[in-house]
Amino acid sequence: MATPPAALLGVVGSIPDAVNPLALSLNEYPFPPLPAVRSAMAASIDTANRYPEFLPQRLRSLIAGHVGVRESQVVIGSGATGVTMQVLHAVSSPGDTMVMAAPTFDGFPIFAQMARLRSVTVPLDQHGHHDLDAMAEAAENARVVVVCRPHNPTGTVEPADDIERFLARVPRDTVVLLDEAYVEFLPGEHRIDAPSLVRRFGNVVVVRTFSKAYGLAGLRVGYGFCAPDLGRTLWSMQLPFGTPLSGLVAVAASYDAESQLRQRIRMIAAERRYLQLRLRSMGLYTTEGQANFVYLPACGRRWQAVFDGAGLQVRHYPDGGVRITVGSRESTRAVLRAVRTAMR
Ligand SMILES: Cc1ncc(COP(=O)(O)O)c(C=O)c1O
Repeated sequence: MATPPAALLGVVGSIPDAVNPLALSLNEYPFPPLPAVRSAMAASIDTANRYPEFLPQRLRSLIAGHVGVRESQVVIGSGATGVTMQVLHAVSSPGDTMVMAAPTFDGFPIFAQMARLRSVTVPLDQHGHHDLDAMAEAAENARVVVVCRPHNPTGTVEPADDIERFLARVPRDTVVLLDEAYVEFLPGEHRIDAPSLVRRFGNVVVVRTFSKAYGLAGLRVGYGFCAPDLGRTLWSMQLPFGTPLSGLVAVAASYDAESQLRQRIRMIAAERRYLQLRLRSMGLYTTEGQANFVYLPACGRRWQAVFDGAGLQVRHYPDGGVRITVGSRESTRAVLRAVRTAMR
């Protein structure tokens, strides 16, 4: 057999490991895909010579059925990232304003810049919650306003009633992106009836992803749903041949394996509670995070040196705050070891 060229070896060698207890900076799922999802994806590889559907109708229909909305309400994107860009391109013009919290998911200021929008930021309160009154006020002069629930990086969840009051205040020609990238980690009592919300508020787009709880970040599949009128506008921007077949089969197999997925999600949520508890018992403040990460607001400690020194990849913020993705128990032990050493 011929020796593979060095470039190929280099590329294959640089593929990240599915399991790496120290990789805690991107809120990824810490384990490889479920066996059933893996088998379904493997089957799709043999038809890589064929284009996927011109527009992702089948995936749209699958997701609509699962979420409980009409097909005409759903759009598909390359992750939640692709969906958000699609919304911005469809509803805004360069120079318009986009309102977001600070800090927030790193992507939002980048997406605003890509769409040539002006970002207006509204600081979170000291416990990591949105100031929804200030955001509604800022939204009066904006084209788009984004609220994450749970929020990234704090993991906090605004009460459903507060979200409704906020939506009632936002002008109907301002589009609200309700980012639910981590919604699957929420216990039932914290969930919002999102299909009902988009029925009542024609300017809301709910954005979700298969990158987080479903553990498929590398496949780049996300979706949004909204009222049918707005859905038609967004679907008109749907990229032809833009969703690979592997995405369709992985989503179908994931829905089929829902009970196993739910079990994995419960495991991550339990691990998050354990990590929060242990950090708090060491005297550290962490926000009331409900997703697959824990946030330590700035407290005068030099966390970067602490985690870098332990070889842990976590997300550091300019003010000194840090966001740590929840992984396996091995990851939790490594985090606690590093923190304990720093606090001695
Ligand atoms: C709040 C939030 N929204 C959107 C995304 C983008 O996710 P993806 O494009 O992988 O679906 C992320 C990723 O970290 C996120 O944290």
